[in-house]
Amino acid sequence: MPKSVRDILSMKNSKKITVITAYDYTTSQLCDKAGVDMLLVGDSAGMVMLGYDNTIPVTMDQMCMFTEAVARGRQNALVVADMPFMSYQASRSQAIENAGRLVKAGADAVKLEGGTEIRDTIHGIVEIGIPVMGHIGFQPQTTTLQEGYKVQAKTKDSALRLVESAKSLEDAGAFSIVLEMVTREASKIISESISIPTIGIGSGPDCDGQVLVVHDMLGLYEKIKPKFAKRYLELSSDIIHAVESYRNDVVSGKFPGTEHCFSMDKSELERLKK
Ligand code: KIV
Ligand code: NA
Repeated sequence: MPKSVRDILSMKNSKKITVITAYDYTTSQLCDKAGVDMLLVGDSAGMVMLGYDNTIPVTMDQMCMFTEAVARGRQNALVVADMPFMSYQASRSQAIENAGRLVKAGADAVKLEGGTEIRDTIHGIVEIGIPVMGHIGFQPQTTTLQEGYKVQAKTKDSALRLVESAKSLEDAGAFSIVLEMVTREASKIISESISIPTIGIGSGPDCDGQVLVVHDMLGLYEKIKPKFAKRYLELSSDIIHAVESYRNDVVSGKFPGTEHCFSMDKSELERLKK
């Protein structure tokens, strides 16, 4: 039985929550086996899987495809899917319809970026029975409207605004909130001000859980290397070395070896030679 929203809620103040992104079946299976609590089908897929410069171009069709693959690979983790840019902003009914599409694709919950201004949207989605994760602090879908790629809540006023946003998301019915690039002090205050778990990325140790982009923590994505993304492997250099070895083996005739070949029966070979 996969984890439920209730399981995640009950972890607040008792056990740290582990979240990692996944976009495909194989990675989903591996991360699920490693015991993470939630798999986030992030719209970061647009960057690490599809090569866009940012998450703006990501479509609902793409998110549904990634979500289906991740849902097939999980056994225990709760699957949360990002609602991509312009899939929930235009109207409440559009938001509900698109949240429903992600659930039909296999998501247990959806995530939306935004604070107080989207509380009605969140309420609408939660009301029809779809759990919602909030996402405040740095919001990649609207970077250009904000102050750019920047740490959030460095001042008293901005910290207080974030606390208010977090409270209104909780009131709207969100079951958890991602805090992205929020100062550790503000994250601690926010986490203590609400009864739903906060999931931090670049927001320090006092959040109730942590999330990382899987490509970042495996050392697979070289374009952006955020300070907060601890790298547990340097897979990109391992992969390049492996493929170079393969290439050298093919060129030199070392691969394929006898152990990689299929053979005809001797008698059939004799008959063929006649
Ligand atoms: O898209 C994503 O990967 C995210 C996480 C970084 C929280 O939203
Ligand atoms: Na995202």
